[in-house]
Amino acid sequence: VIPKLYEAFSQSFDIGAAVNTRTIQTQKELLAYHYNSITPENEMKFESLHPSEDTYTFEHADEIASFAKAQGMKLRGHTLVWHNQTPDWLFRDSKDGTIEAETLLTRMKTHIDTVVKRYKDSIYAWDVVNEVIADEGTELLRHSKWLDIAGEGFIAKAFEYAHEADPKAVLFYNDYNESNPVKREKIYKLVKGLVDHGVPIHGVGLQAHWNITNPGLDDIRSAIERYASLGLQLQITEMDVSVFEHDDRRTDLTAPTERMKELQTERYEQFFKLFREYKQHISAVTFWGAADDYTWLDYFPVRSRKNWPLLFDEQQQPKEAFWRVIKG
Ligand code: G3I
Repeated sequence: VIPKLYEAFSQSFDIGAAVNTRTIQTQKELLAYHYNSITPENEMKFESLHPSEDTYTFEHADEIASFAKAQGMKLRGHTLVWHNQTPDWLFRDSKDGTIEAETLLTRMKTHIDTVVKRYKDSIYAWDVVNEVIADEGTELLRHSKWLDIAGEGFIAKAFEYAHEADPKAVLFYNDYNESNPVKREKIYKLVKGLVDHGVPIHGVGLQAHWNITNPGLDDIRSAIERYASLGLQLQITEMDVSVFEHDDRRTDLTAPTERMKELQTERYEQFFKLFREYKQHISAVTFWGAADDYTWLDYFPVRSRKNWPLLFDEQQQPKEAFWRVIKG
């Protein structure tokens, strides 16, 4: 009999998967067996929940919340404030003109208040602010409509509003390229500033969209230690290990090569060994998907190129990486 993934880690951290309204059906048994936490992949993003000022569409999000409840799984909320998948109306007035900072912050508060309160009893943790750090250059923050209109204060305010709406919720800052030394320090600086100012932030999310060669283990370890030094809990929030290296744009593979499989297996083993070392700090490891039959990487960075980044294969069977992760 196949051991349950989350049971293998019950002394360390929760094991989660991103889901959508289709995969809670097509991967139902797998999810229920191996994972004790889920995150909606798109269904709780701003554009999904709040497509126009007076309209909220909760049906899909509710479906996922009910699934979590029925299966006795934890639920993470993703995400309240992001530059992507956010509708245009939020940043414009009724005549399509620009708005003042105050208007944007009021709208943000209304959104956070409505959404966080609705899921108060089902969601235990929120990615409150997602990906606001600039990838390149020396600037700290990414250019976005949020920043242009409201200035950097929107970040702290988002956490304050979320905390007011649900004082029990565990509130995260979440980002990718989190192990890159330059970006790591920028994320550290942002979060430290929030902590020092008494902003209600409780955790740092490391997305962990990694591949078979990058990032290096030492950079990941340094990132974990640096963020942990802030005294906050850490979660791996969106893990996958692409079988393609960063600059590999091949589109002709119908299955991963032996070399890809070997590297992926080794890397997964090393990553989980590292996570276990830091189990005092890491409260959950969530994969961005559950099995290779569906992954966002089938569409990114090359549209319609299959990828195989998870612990279960296209038939939802455990891969060698699964056994190594469990054994560790
Ligand atoms: O909803 C439309 C559908 O109507 C249309 O038929 C279809 C055709 O392509 O597109 C659908 O929208 C897609 C949407 O996912 C829902 O499936 C978008 O094109 C597609 O861009 C979108 O991608 C999502 C991506 O975020 C958008 O930024 C991925 O599913 C989702 O996995 C990904 O998740 C993000 C995290 O939220 C934040 N961190 C990075 C991570 C990976 O990019």
